[in-house]
Amino acid sequence: MKTPVFDALKNLMKENSVSFHMPGHKGKNTSFNWGDYIPMIDTTETFGMDNLLDPEGIILESQKETARIFGAKYTQYCPNGSTGSIYIALSAITKPGDTVIVQRNCHKSVYNSMILNRLDPIYVFPNYNEKYKVLTGVDPAEIERLLSENPQTKAVVITHPNYYGVVSNLPEIAKIVHAHGKVLMVDEAHGPHMGFSKNLPPSALSCGADIVIQSVHKTLPSLTSTSYIHVGTDRIDLNKLMDRFQLYITTSPSYLLTTSCEMAAAYMDTDEAKERLEKNIALCNKTIERLNNIDKVFCFTGDPEDKTIMAKDNTKMLFKIKNMKGTTLKKLLYKDFNIRLEMTDYYYALALSSLMNDEEDYDRLVDAANELSKRNIVEEIANVEVNLDEPNNVRPISDSYMGKKELVYLKDSVGRISATSIIPYPPGVPLIVPGEVITKELYEEIVFLQENEITIVGMMGEKDDQLVVVE
Ligand SMILES: Cc1ncc(COP(=O)(O)O)c(C=O)c1O
Repeated sequence: MKTPVFDALKNLMKENSVSFHMPGHKGKNTSFNWGDYIPMIDTTETFGMDNLLDPEGIILESQKETARIFGAKYTQYCPNGSTGSIYIALSAITKPGDTVIVQRNCHKSVYNSMILNRLDPIYVFPNYNEKYKVLTGVDPAEIERLLSENPQTKAVVITHPNYYGVVSNLPEIAKIVHAHGKVLMVDEAHGPHMGFSKNLPPSALSCGADIVIQSVHKTLPSLTSTSYIHVGTDRIDLNKLMDRFQLYITTSPSYLLTTSCEMAAAYMDTDEAKERLEKNIALCNKTIERLNNIDKVFCFTGDPEDKTIMAKDNTKMLFKIKNMKGTTLKKLLYKDFNIRLEMTDYYYALALSSLMNDEEDYDRLVDAANELSKRNIVEEIANVEVNLDEPNNVRPISDSYMGKKELVYLKDSVGRISATSIIPYPPGVPLIVPGEVITKELYEEIVFLQENEITIVGMMGEKDDQLVVVE
């Protein structure tokens, strides 16, 4: 049989590209060399081992060590990414029919979890910063208002930081949520490194969050699909959490991923890792300065006038070049300079760094941006709103997803109720979710994104021109 996947991976190894994308190990070993051990350490619950689904021995001991390093009361390793951890955490703090306040620009895993758990969402909208055309933070006053108006709410779910590295005033949000006697769950998929430096935004655990999800693989040297569920306070029922963990996780959890969760934490406990992280933060700040000094290049680092931004994690470098779409920038950086970025939206490109990037990577990025800025590329850039529309919600999310559906062409879908989520990916934030009416504006937005080569998940048919609606 042909082995197209392995062949492509072998080519990738030869390519020697600069990685400003996930995973956080950037294709390198730390002092721990995986190559010496694989496949020998890919084992199961045999003698001397432990069971991730009910840890009592070495895994429990390891998780306790990790909890200590991250400042949690309890940490659970999870081999199903933050996606799996979000399913588990949200089902552990709610029961079917409960109301939850969620950020409208939360990741699709939060929406999927609401479908699976039959939850009723109330949306809190992040600020849309018109000057820079980016979604920024959540105003704590909005959380106060929504909780006062909806006392039946069970929990509040906040993303911290967002894909661009922006964080809201989480300490204030935690105070408000707890004053109302509710639970604060934080999706910190993009921030497992933040608790290890005072030069980064504060970690969700240090802000008082009750339960925190982190993708270890996004910014720490860990294998893809590794995540942590950290419990920060006694508001979380650990028995229910483990019960839900067993509901969602494979009965053959990978020791490779379990060990990777451990080794990433162990590495972050070393002076070497902390020094590398500080060096990385300094290099990113320097790179941003160098990029901003290039004619036509702009790097977004925040906006003092935007009070919803408490801080910005600059290890995520969001930049653009005048008269060039984000998608073009990403493509040219790869094609002409062998630099792979994490994502783009219409305007910006995002270089996602980690403590495993080398100084040379940043020089290559700056040199490439410099050269690209000098090419006289002039694309027509439309003045589009990247803002999130107020959803036109007519049916419960879960019923619409689970009920009778039909496939229609996008051009015929206006006015119908969506039975699916339509999601530009990355960042994985849905434009519409099941139960919401497809508006003319949404139809136009999907067409616009497709024309501008932004990948959209949720479209069907060979030409991605159909979608699933409620019958
Ligand atoms: C904010 C956010 N939460 C959760 C996830 C899911 O993380 P994972 O890929 O580890 O399942 C993502 C993925 O990109 C994300 O951006």
